[in-house]
Amino acid sequence: MNRVLIAGATGWVGKELSKAILSSADYTLVGGLSRSNAGADLASILGIDHSAIPLFDTIGKALETVEFDTLIDFTSPKIALHNILAAINKGKNIVVGTSGLSDKEYEKIASLADEKNVSVLAAGNFSITAVLLQRFSETAAKYINHFEIIDYASEKKVDAPSGTVAELAYRLSKIQKPILDVPIEETIGVKEARGGSINGIQVHAVRLPGHVLGVETIFGMEGERLTIKHEAGSGAAPYLKGIFIALEKINTFKGLKRGLDTVMNF
Ligand SMILES: NC(=O)c1ccc[n+]([C@@H]2O[C@H](COP(=O)([O-])OP(=O)(O)OC[C@H]3O[C@@H](n4cnc5c(N)ncnc54)[C@H](OP(=O)(O)O)[C@@H]3O)[C@@H](O)[C@H]2O)c1
Repeated sequence: MNRVLIAGATGWVGKELSKAILSSADYTLVGGLSRSNAGADLASILGIDHSAIPLFDTIGKALETVEFDTLIDFTSPKIALHNILAAINKGKNIVVGTSGLSDKEYEKIASLADEKNVSVLAAGNFSITAVLLQRFSETAAKYINHFEIIDYASEKKVDAPSGTVAELAYRLSKIQKPILDVPIEETIGVKEARGGSINGIQVHAVRLPGHVLGVETIFGMEGERLTIKHEAGSGAAPYLKGIFIALEKINTFKGLKRGLDTVMNF
């Protein structure tokens, strides 16, 4: 039950993850998806002495050619939903790292996962410290009813908000919708300057060189402020530990779970 296919195996996260899986005694990497390297050998791309690991351009070809138990998707929001639904239809479990999927798309994933009795674990951020930010923010949102989120990423990031922030806004909105003393539509001046509303929470996305991935939840109360901030470093290493936790727990539930902490013991 430990054969893995990585969609996006040649990407920034995918390469590090592929190497980590190849050096793990518990999991076998049977293949990957990449349009530009389809037909090539992933092991040689990674510079690893290993038998050939095939790369496919579509999930359909991978499903026809290799046997696997779990799909890990680190691709792009443009293709991830297609990969995920195709794999669920074939009874595979899924770990979703790709950001940018909407709540509506997750509803689709949840209902197909229930129908096919498979497990899907999606996390906007697999880093343990980012998971802690989510948890601490949720606790603060129980007590403080004014809060907004700042989402930092590099100038190249195509989606906004980031997966981390989309998930955080979704989860905080389940605790409470923050109060807006001046409704956005009554803002005088440029209304967009107040950010975008994600599940009723104002989110401000900053896209600048020098930023990797960061999130700041800002809480305000009369006469005091609280800021909870997470900043990722420049490598993909922080995500690997969380992805391995996801792989370890993927067979312990059925249906869709969102957020790594849903399978961690807090
Ligand atoms: N959840 C988390 O903890 C976390 C952490 C970091 C990043 N992310 C998210 O993970 C995703 C990937 O990030 P990244 O930085 O690794 O991206 P990246 O470096 O651009 O890699 C994307 C990978 O997906 C492949 N790919 C893209 N479109 C494809 C398609 N249509 N069919 C098949 N393969 C395709 C690319 O190969 P080809 O171009 O050759 O197709 C490449 O291997 C992003 O959505 C990012 O926001 C999540």
